[in-house]
Amino acid sequence: MPRYVFASILIVLLSCQKDQRTTCDSNLFLRDVAPFSVGTTDDNILVTWGDQTSGKHFNRISTENILKMENMMPRKDSFNFWRIAWMAREAMNSKFTELHAHPVIWHNQIPDWLPQLPPDELKDLMLKYCNAYRGNLEAYSQFVAITGIDVVNEALNEDGSLRRSFWYEAMGRDYIRLAFQEFSGMNPETKLFYNDYNLALNPKKLDAALDLCDWLRSAGVRIDGIGMQMHIDIHEPSQVDIAAAFQKIIDRGYMVHVSELDVSINPRNTETSATPALLSKQADVYAGIFRLYNQLPKKYRYGITVWGYSDAESWIQNKYQRFDAPLLLDVAGMKKPAYCACLNTLNK
Ligand code: G3I
Repeated sequence: MPRYVFASILIVLLSCQKDQRTTCDSNLFLRDVAPFSVGTTDDNILVTWGDQTSGKHFNRISTENILKMENMMPRKDSFNFWRIAWMAREAMNSKFTELHAHPVIWHNQIPDWLPQLPPDELKDLMLKYCNAYRGNLEAYSQFVAITGIDVVNEALNEDGSLRRSFWYEAMGRDYIRLAFQEFSGMNPETKLFYNDYNLALNPKKLDAALDLCDWLRSAGVRIDGIGMQMHIDIHEPSQVDIAAAFQKIIDRGYMVHVSELDVSINPRNTETSATPALLSKQADVYAGIFRLYNQLPKKYRYGITVWGYSDAESWIQNKYQRFDAPLLLDVAGMKKPAYCACLNTLNK
């Protein structure tokens, strides 16, 4: 056989060969392989609840929108706590074994009437809200284990100072302590988190979050861990920065929840499709995070939650009005290279 024919056959064969790193058995699922909990969010459950599609891949569901205050208290005199019961039942029907409640106290997605309340009323309402939230979670834990709660979300600015939200204006930083205090007596199997973004990218903000948590502990309230949202992209933060952030958190004695993971492939809006090169880069980033996380001591690993089920449901395209594909399953719900790379990393 002439040498050029042989070389062409070899090239064709090599290009047909599947990349072992980013392909995997269609019957193998992340929840079966991961030695820690793997989560997704509720918007998919709203679409496909009961059919157990997302519960096949993930064992934990985190509430993306349904338990936010604008939905829980649309009117001042009405608490929609039936939403917790509904969510817990649907989680069970969809074969999730764990539910993570997100968020209790946040400055965003709140009812319009709330920020106008006078400080005393706001404080009373916050305490009542936390108390009722807790009571309902406890009541409906008969359906699904409530493994964690984002008690306070995004209380910090990028420079590490406290955000001047209406909560802060009314009570100073004490609103954070009061909120955690309301949950402190819960079953210790339900972990309490402070949750924020850019913590791997911005060491100043991470230090401030850790100081805030230390202050809460010294004030005698329970806080178990830090939720690192991780809305990141294929360029940053680096794996070194992520590893350093994980280490800093566990060195201070807090659990780590990678709480809202997505990896944008089009952060600069320069792409129009999910090319193999972009998907491969995304697979490296995802697998790197799963690998680093898996190396943490077990007692600090609360789990990794991906912020959405498939690329069809991610918040990113809506919010930024651009093409993107930031999640582990594609728009058709098929495993992406990133899914297989995470699975293979854990399954070694
Ligand atoms: O429910 C309404 C629907 O009735 C209406 O037709 C539609 C029109 O746009 O909007 C729907 O509400 C949207 C809601 O998501 C539910 O899909 C809101 O417009 C939209 O703003 C809202 O976005 C959510 C965002 O928080 C708002 O802050 C995202 O889904 C949710 O993923 C995102 O999650 C946050 C975390 O809670 C905290 N960390 C950051 C993260 C990303 O922003």
